[in-house]
Amino acid sequence: MDEYYNGKIAIVTGANSGIGYAVSEELLKRGAIVYMAGRSREKIAKAAGQLSAYGDRVRTLVMDVTKEEQVQKGIEGTAAAAGRLDLLFNNAGVGGTLPFEMATLEDWKTIIDTNLWSVIYGVHFAVPVMLRQGSGHIVNTSSVAGIIPPPFQALYSLTKFGVTGMTECLKYEFAEKGLHFSTICPANIATPIFKKSIDGKTHDDLRVPDDAYPVEKAAAFILDRVAEQKGIIVVPEDPNTDVWKGYVLGDREVEEWLYRMAHDRREAFEKTGTYF
Ligand SMILES: NC(=O)c1ccc[n+]([C@@H]2O[C@H](COP(=O)([O-])OP(=O)(O)OC[C@H]3O[C@@H](n4cnc5c(N)ncnc54)[C@H](OP(=O)(O)O)[C@@H]3O)[C@@H](O)[C@H]2O)c1
Repeated sequence: MDEYYNGKIAIVTGANSGIGYAVSEELLKRGAIVYMAGRSREKIAKAAGQLSAYGDRVRTLVMDVTKEEQVQKGIEGTAAAAGRLDLLFNNAGVGGTLPFEMATLEDWKTIIDTNLWSVIYGVHFAVPVMLRQGSGHIVNTSSVAGIIPPPFQALYSLTKFGVTGMTECLKYEFAEKGLHFSTICPANIATPIFKKSIDGKTHDDLRVPDDAYPVEKAAAFILDRVAEQKGIIVVPEDPNTDVWKGYVLGDREVEEWLYRMAHDRREAFEKTGTYF
């Protein structure tokens, strides 16, 4: 497994927090040279500082993924400085459980910029570099909400279905050119995302679900599956993979589960007046 990563040049976006930080650490453990990208110079420097045991294999990039020029500079600059780019993890993103009635057009624009345009920019600038090399692996983070439609997540699901669809298309389109594409579909992973709204602001009254999967285990699982060049990677697999397949096949139980989720979420929303 580690052979897939040892000595490889990797960029991870949204690396100062959650899954991005854990994947960066796991890549470092497996011998990669990791460019940890974040939009805040202070936050990414602090995160990289926590991994200073890995010496000069830990590097940083300041990159707001909603800004085309910054993504271009980050990717092309890294490839020029390091001589190549083997792995790109388009991981940065925001969550968004929000009743449709509460969503403003500004919310739609923000989440599309952050979760979808970020991945389009990343792929757009990394593919030519990887085609010139004749190799490379792009790993885009979608969500379980990018393969099944959780009610009250229409904004989020729009972006994540987009990420899944694009990544899967490119996987087949570039297979003969030596490029690989994977789509990460996390379910509930214990990260600060649950305490944030679409605008990225933190809300102390929101909680990470008690049954959320440990982020370090998720990162190790993701890298094992990426090394196998798997396309859609659901994490954790059980029971989410069965639910996803059941949804695609029109399974009645999955339909009923989604209707129940909609009912419970609407009830919670009408009681509290808010639901992120
Ligand atoms: N955790 C889950 O259960 C779960 C489930 C499904 C999918 N996901 C996906 O997994 C990915 C990582 O999420 P996470 O759970 O690790 O959440 P997280 O801890 O909140 O991390 C999100 C990261 O994205 C960064 N980010 C947000 N907007 C950005 C921008 N404009 N430019 C650059 N960086 C930006 C954040 O930076 P700041 O700290 O500066 O805001 C942070 O580093 C996301 O794409 C998310 O949708 C997570």
